[in-house]
Amino acid sequence: MNLKEKISKYGKWSLITGGSDGIGRDFSRQLASLGQNIIIVGRNENKLKNIKTEIEKQYKVEIITLSLDLSSYDQVNKLLIQTENIDIGLVILAAGYGSIGKFHTLDLNSELQMVDLNCRAIVHLSHAFTNRMKSKSKGALILFGSLVGFQGVAWTANYSASKAFVQSFAEGIRAELKSANIDVLSVAPGHVSSGFGERAGMKMGQAQSTKGIAKASLKALGNQITIRPGFLSKFLGYSLIILPRNIRSFILKQIMSGMMESKK
Ligand SMILES: NC(=O)c1ccc[n+]([C@@H]2O[C@H](COP(=O)([O-])OP(=O)(O)OC[C@H]3O[C@@H](n4cnc5c(N)ncnc54)[C@H](OP(=O)(O)O)[C@@H]3O)[C@@H](O)[C@H]2O)c1
Repeated sequence: MNLKEKISKYGKWSLITGGSDGIGRDFSRQLASLGQNIIIVGRNENKLKNIKTEIEKQYKVEIITLSLDLSSYDQVNKLLIQTENIDIGLVILAAGYGSIGKFHTLDLNSELQMVDLNCRAIVHLSHAFTNRMKSKSKGALILFGSLVGFQGVAWTANYSASKAFVQSFAEGIRAELKSANIDVLSVAPGHVSSGFGERAGMKMGQAQSTKGIAKASLKALGNQITIRPGFLSKFLGYSLIILPRNIRSFILKQIMSGMMESKK
């Protein structure tokens, strides 16, 4: 079975939160190239318009864009209402952001909103969409962990904790949903060159491109629990994972420290 056949088994529609930029944008393009109709969610209307225009020029698929702030509980509900009558088989929850600095010095509202987007919205949307999928006995969910989500990491404590939550959540529901024929995958990248670094205020240094992350993840869907896309995340991830947790935390603290030079 090729990738197009594999993905179309879930259904004709895919939903991508954060599909207007960065890694999510790679998923929007990749899924359109596989003939999927797509719903792209993000806040900025111009970014949504741009990706829609770009994809429409290349592929004959239906595209719906929804401008919503998913850190808001009400707007997550809006998304659920607006997609009620669409038969969505594959859900990709990529919208998320990070921050860098000593936790107690960071803006509390932004840190709380990060938890709302990176964790609360994930729980809310995963609950709703897996229930919809269960009634059809098919579907798939892709969530985003991170290299920093396998241990506590200084200078990005709240963000790394939010990604630890997602990783653990993905592993748990994957096992629960297996018998319902619903696949769950956690994508755990290392440093990726996208809008993420700028929003977080991180100097990304040696970052991998977003290109190819979607294809590799879609291939892994159904076969793996977690994918570490790209050489750098594999190299760092697998060499760190064999170390005791406190040593991993120490090494990542040094790496993060280099990424926040200006904030020390
Ligand atoms: N880049 C990395 O190094 C890296 C590493 C590990 C894990 N990750 C994870 O991978 C995922 C994707 O990151 P990325 O690098 O693609 O980030 P990105 O380039 O900043 O893109 C984020 C996407 O999410 C949307 N978004 C942000 N806040 C939102 C909100 N409140 N409501 C709705 N949409 C929102 C953005 O559009 P608008 O701005 O228009 O809302 C954009 O489409 C995230 O979960 C991130 O934590 C990234």
